[in-house]
Amino acid sequence: MHLESYPEGAVPQAFRHQIHALQNQAWPSDPAPSDPAPSDPAPSDPAPPGDALVHDPTLQPLSLILVDDGVVVAALDILRKPLHHAGNTFQAGGLSTVVTRRHLRGRGYGRHLVTAARTAMIDLHLDLGIFTCDRVLQPFYGSAGWQPLPGTVLIGGTPDDPFPSDQPGFDKVTLAAFFTPAAREAAPKFHHARIPLHPGHIDKLW
Ligand SMILES: CC(C)(COP(=O)(O)OP(=O)(O)OC[C@H]1O[C@@H](n2cnc3c(N)ncnc32)[C@H](O)[C@@H]1OP(=O)(O)O)[C@@H](O)C(=O)NCCC(=O)NCCS
Repeated sequence: MHLESYPEGAVPQAFRHQIHALQNQAWPSDPAPSDPAPSDPAPSDPAPPGDALVHDPTLQPLSLILVDDGVVVAALDILRKPLHHAGNTFQAGGLSTVVTRRHLRGRGYGRHLVTAARTAMIDLHLDLGIFTCDRVLQPFYGSAGWQPLPGTVLIGGTPDDPFPSDQPGFDKVTLAAFFTPAAREAAPKFHHARIPLHPGHIDKLW
């Protein structure tokens, strides 16, 4: 078992097919209500339809992939953009499309990957990592060193078409890690704040 990382556009085709299949399994685009839960895709399964890039290239997506003997066990993407908050501009990263192969969940692979993502963000010279997740997953990310920001809302979408993480029907928390001295100093200002992330229309919220 080992980690590999690539800009999303450079992920080898064999891995890309597997990752998209895992993503389609975790987030089916149009599931019929009576559909049974799909079984784990085999590495040799054909590529799902629309096997194109998932993320907005302007967010410089970097894929982190946990691989065991050619099989993708878990994967995520780090997205990046400047973030204006508290009178400063920070280089911010976020986690997106975090997924573990279904029959291998609960073995620590997801935690290993989201822990490695923190180190990867430091290597990318980001000031901080910040993202939202469903409240039930807060302990999962917390156990990997991501700290919850109490009362903080990330505002996705665009300034003209905002997509806040506290909209009706969402139950999300915001998690963060502060890497650089400037970010650590500003950390208290990220609590109980509404933060304009605005990653655009493709990755509306991370
Ligand atoms: C979330 C996910 C990536 C976790 O991967 P994993 O490899 O199973 O994670 P780990 O084995 O490292 O689990 C670590 C801990 O998180 C907990 N956890 C994992 N998924 C959870 C969930 N959906 N709800 C509550 N707790 C969860 C595990 O129980 C475990 O806790 P423990 O150490 O106290 O037993 C995986 O469940 C998954 O792919 N889910 C579907 C896609 C998804 O929801 N992604 C997150 C998008 S923000």
